[in-house]
Amino acid sequence: MAGRFVTFEGIDGAGKSSHIESLAQWLRGRGHEVLVTREPGGTPLAERLRELVLGEPMDTLTELLLVFAARRDHLERQILPALARGATVLCDRFTDATFAYQGAGRGLGADRIAALEQWVQDERQPDLTLWFDLPAAVAAARRTAAREPDRFELEDEAFFARVREGYAARAKEHAARFVRIEAEGAAADVWQQVVAAVAAKGWW
Ligand code: TMP
Repeated sequence: MAGRFVTFEGIDGAGKSSHIESLAQWLRGRGHEVLVTREPGGTPLAERLRELVLGEPMDTLTELLLVFAARRDHLERQILPALARGATVLCDRFTDATFAYQGAGRGLGADRIAALEQWVQDERQPDLTLWFDLPAAVAAARRTAAREPDRFELEDEAFFARVREGYAARAKEHAARFVRIEAEGAAADVWQQVVAAVAAKGWW
C-alpha cells in the first residue's frame, strides 16, 4: 500500500510549521505512521546543501541545481522509502517552492525547472499540497519577530509578492492537488482549514 505525500507551501512568514506538527499528531492519533520532513533538507547530505543554499552567496542557477541535488537525495533516501512502506509524508516545501522562489521570485522562469523536475522526480508529484496564502506585507510583519534572517528572508517585499504570484500560478496549473489555505487569520482558523482539507480527501 503506497502512502500519501502531502506538501506545505507558502511565502516565508505564512506560519505553516506549527500546523505541520499539529497535523502529524492528528494523523498519528488515528494510527498512521507519519514522516515529517522539509526541503531543502531531510537527509544529512540535503541538510548540508540547505546550509549552503540559505547561507552562501551564489548565482541563481547554482541555487536551482543545489535545491534539486538536495531533492534527489531526499526523495531517494527518505520520501520514496517512506511512501513505499505506507507512511504519510508531510513535507515542508517541495518543487512548487522552486517554481515560486527560483522561477518567479528570482526570475528564472519555468522551463529549466520543469526539465529538472522531470529528470529528478519522473512523474512523482505530491498527492496534496496545502498552500498557505497571505499578502507579502502581512508575512513580512510576522517575520520581523522571527530569528536571524537567511538569504531568502532578507529579500524585499516585491520579491515575496512575485513568489506569491508564482504559487498562485502553480495552484491554477495543478488545481487537482492544491488547496489554498487562507493564512492571514488567527491560527485556530487556519488549523480548521487544514483539518477540513485533509478530511475532505477521505484518505485517513
Ligand atoms: P524554510 O524551511 O525556513 O522555509 O526555508 C527554506 C527557504 O528556502 C525558504 O525561504 C524558501 C527557500 N526555498 C527555495 O528557494 N527553493 C526551494 O525549492 C525550496 C524547497 C525552498
